[in-house]
Amino acid sequence: KTAKPWGGRFREATHRSVERFTQSVHYDRRLARHDIAGSRAHARMLARVGVISEAEAAAIVRGLDEILAEIEAETFQWRPDLEDVHMNIERALAERIGEPGKKLHTGRSRNDQVATDVRLFLREEIDRLDGLLHDLQSALVAQAEAHPGLVLPGYTHLQRAQPVLWAHHMLAYFEMFKRDRGRLADCRRRVNLCPLGSAALAGTGFPLDRESVARELGFDGITANSLDAVGDRDFVVEFEAAAALVMAHLSRLSEELVLWASAEFGFVELPDGFCTGSSIMPQKKNPDVPELVRGKTGRVIGHLAGTLAVLKGLPLAYNRDLQEDKEALFDVVDTVADSVEVMAGLVARLAPREDRMRAALRGGFLTATDLADYLVGKGLPFREAHEVVGRAVAACLDQGRELADLSLEELRGLSPAVDEDVFEVLTPEGSVAARRTPGGTAPDRVAEALAEARAWLGRR
Ligand code: ARG
Repeated sequence: KTAKPWGGRFREATHRSVERFTQSVHYDRRLARHDIAGSRAHARMLARVGVISEAEAAAIVRGLDEILAEIEAETFQWRPDLEDVHMNIERALAERIGEPGKKLHTGRSRNDQVATDVRLFLREEIDRLDGLLHDLQSALVAQAEAHPGLVLPGYTHLQRAQPVLWAHHMLAYFEMFKRDRGRLADCRRRVNLCPLGSAALAGTGFPLDRESVARELGFDGITANSLDAVGDRDFVVEFEAAAALVMAHLSRLSEELVLWASAEFGFVELPDGFCTGSSIMPQKKNPDVPELVRGKTGRVIGHLAGTLAVLKGLPLAYNRDLQEDKEALFDVVDTVADSVEVMAGLVARLAPREDRMRAALRGGFLTATDLADYLVGKGLPFREAHEVVGRAVAACLDQGRELADLSLEELRGLSPAVDEDVFEVLTPEGSVAARRTPGGTAPDRVAEALAEARAWLGRR
């Protein structure tokens, strides 16, 4: 005879392979703290509305507290035959306190219970991730502030394009993570609603006070439709999508660091503490941290696609398929948090190499646009100026020279209006200083952006 909490109508024990196949307690025990918080609030409310007595509620709460203490001390006996975290705790409670423990599940289903647990869990993880992203942004701002005048080549198509400030480059990532935090905050608003009271799918006949339970658990309100509340996991998908974007941004930063750490670029020196060596090549110092972040990005994107695939095609309301949300979500939460944390440490310790950036600013005609713009200032239509400078670049390429190597005479060949002041325009510093549009790389613009970034971080 089976001892399942739902065993009444069964005449045969669960097959061993099914036992193994259906149980989730080895991972969903991670929700225990939230499961117990939800049960406590449910029990207190049952007493408030008169479904159980105050004494019974008190016994339940005390029993749950003891169970939580055992779980945290790792002395709790988890039983795979009880399937999941919910039935493990409920059974342990009944064994401990007897009759009142058997009343806890009144007006409740594992369906609204698990939806509640996952929301409580995710709310906490969103807040933790937000804090880690704050630290990463602070590291980016500190990097920007530490090297205010540092100029490096900016790229399009990974071809040198125009000079930009190192601080501007760092702040580009600051903006990405700012939007990521906005997405997480937006997602949190939809996560933070309480499904309890939806029961299995249709609600319940007991006079539950859903609002008070929601309030006690720190939710902003209750879910509106019982079928939807137990049947959807769109909030998990939303979080995973926001997390995938965090990873995509981290991965782009990682890719740049891998490139920049190469001898060919040499733009940054990565801290030894964040690199590893080779078991055969004694000289190697490898950028494994950004490489792993780049690699783990694939995992998170996979979980996002996986959860969407689980949801699609599910008829309303709850289906056991939904149990598959948790391992993906847990892995996303852990992977993103670890990645953000390690990258914050790495960014804080980056050492940019001014000599190598200087060298890369030469030979790529990075100020060709500035020369064209200068000619526009002297009255040439831009398209003509572009053509003229393009021909000058071609000539320089033939002769192995740079635009700044040309004499005033030669430059006057482009247009008689060219003056001495052209040589300032052709320096990397002159180039960045000219780019004064809001959001541009001019030092005073970047100083403004830095001040705004600092103020934004301070307000959070
Ligand atoms: N372990 C289940 C899950 O994660 C809990 C809900 C089970 N409900 C049910 N009717 N079998 O989704």
